[in-house]
Formats: sequence, C-alpha cells, structure tokens
Amino acid sequence: MKIASDGVILKILWITCRVHWRIVATGLYMLSAKGLSKKYATFTVVNDVSLDVARGEIVSVTGPSGAGKSTLLHLLGGLDKPDAGSVLIDGTDLLKLPAKKQARFRNDHIGFVFQFHHLLPEFSAVENVCMPLWIKGLGKKEAAEKAREMLAVVGLSHRLENKPSELSGGEQQRVAIARALVTGPSVVMADEPTGNLDSENAHLIHRLFLDLRQQLGQTFIMITHNDALALMTDRTLMMQDGRIVNERRNGR
Ligand SMILES: Nc1ncnc2c1ncn2[C@@H]1O[C@H](COP(=O)(O)OP(=O)(O)O)[C@@H](O)[C@H]1O
Ligand SMILES: [Mg+2]
Repeated sequence: MKIASDGVILKILWITCRVHWRIVATGLYMLSAKGLSKKYATFTVVNDVSLDVARGEIVSVTGPSGAGKSTLLHLLGGLDKPDAGSVLIDGTDLLKLPAKKQARFRNDHIGFVFQFHHLLPEFSAVENVCMPLWIKGLGKKEAAEKAREMLAVVGLSHRLENKPSELSGGEQQRVAIARALVTGPSVVMADEPTGNLDSENAHLIHRLFLDLRQQLGQTFIMITHNDALALMTDRTLMMQDGRIVNERRNGR
C-alpha cells in the first residue's frame, strides 16, 4: 500500500514538473530545444544542443561549413529526426506528434526560407504564396487575398502575376519569404537566406526581416555567413563541430 502511494505521489510530482516546464517554456519561449543530437554512421553532426528562442526574437546561427548548422535547423523544424532530444514550438512537442499531424503542424506553424527559393516555376508569385494556404484547406479566394496582402508586405504588389523566371533573385527570395510568412507561423527558419544574393539585395532582405519582426512580431532563426546580417539580429549563436560554442548578444 505504502509503495503504491509513493509511486502515485512520484508520478503526480513528475507530471506536475512536466506540465510546469511546458507552461514556463510556452510562456517565455516560442521555441525550446533540449539535448538535440544527430549522428550519421559514427559521425556526430549535432551534439547535445539546447537552445531557447523568445517570442519575437531574431536569432542567428553562424559557424564554419560542416559545423552542423543546416542539420540543426532541420531538427528544429522537424525536417529531420534527432537521435535524442526534444523540440517544443509554441507549446507543442514537435517530435511527439504522429507523422501526419507533424506535417500539418509544420505547414501551419513553421515557415522555411532556403538559400535557393524553391518556388514552383509554373506558378505565379501569388499562386506560390497561396500554396501553404491551399494545403491548409483555405478556399481559393481567401488564400489569394491573404497571399496578395503578404506580397504587399514584402513590397511585391506589382509582381503578383509574374512567374519566378520573370522575377529578379531578390524578388524571388521575397516571394519565398512571403510564402514562409503567409500562414502566420510561430517561427520562421531560414538557411542562408541571402547566400545567393548580391550585397544590395541581401541588405534589402535583412531590412525586411527586421521590418517583419516590427510589424508582425515574427520570431526568426536564421543561419548566415553574412556578418552584417548576424549583427542585425538580437543574438548570434556560433556553432562548431556540432555544438554551440559561443553566444553573443548584439547591441543594436
Ligand atoms: N544525410 C547526411 N548523411 C551523412 N552526412 C551528412 C548528412 N547531412 C549532413 N551530413 C554531414 O554533416 C556535417 C554537417 O552538415 P551541415 O549540417 O550541412 O553543416 P553546415 O550547414 O554547418 O555546413 C557535414 O560534414 C555533412 O557532410
Ligand atoms: Mg548548411
């Protein structure tokens, strides 16, 4: 009897601690990752990484090529599965979701921007931005309205019907950013978003990220090799050999 009641008390304590952590993490942080690790064969690419990102914070991740930055971002966004660790996004334990629910959660709550825009060439700018809304099940009219609004936010109202091949590199990346933002995601994850742009266009995109945080309170995690961009973010994490080895707050 005694053992049973001790067991129950321990279980209640354990559940209370977990719920408490969840409430604290949900309140303070948009994203909270604990002990993420990933190995390919015997090579540890991401090694016990934990990080918290506050709501509306812009965090940059820098480090040499091969440090594990992209792999970390894929783990944070549920594009790849870690060998160990957890990822809480806006209070949801991403890795505990069954595959279908996780895919839906990704579409609705995480916006991705990559170095290469990955726009669908046969679709117009507005249709490309509609894509995550169509997946979400929105009607054509409502999706188009939201897509047009978001394209206006990124300064592309005059390019709605153009196909990607008719747009400049900077404009293509703006469409990709609008597509990442149109669902009102909890967090936008960007992997070298200006790595393929000339410095003038890169600067315009950097300003755009800051404006989006100002206007929408958007939370960002972005990998970059661009020092100017890293310095514009709130905090920079430096990664090396699969670990975060340094952290810097950027006084802006
Ligand atoms: N699918 C994979 N299979 C095997 N090795 C991989 C895989 N993905 C990444 N790696 C290796 O992990 C290391 C880190 O890769 P990555 O996360 O892309 O680094 P970074 O983005 O910092 O350049 C690299 O050495 C890379 O070759
Ligand atoms: Mg990379």
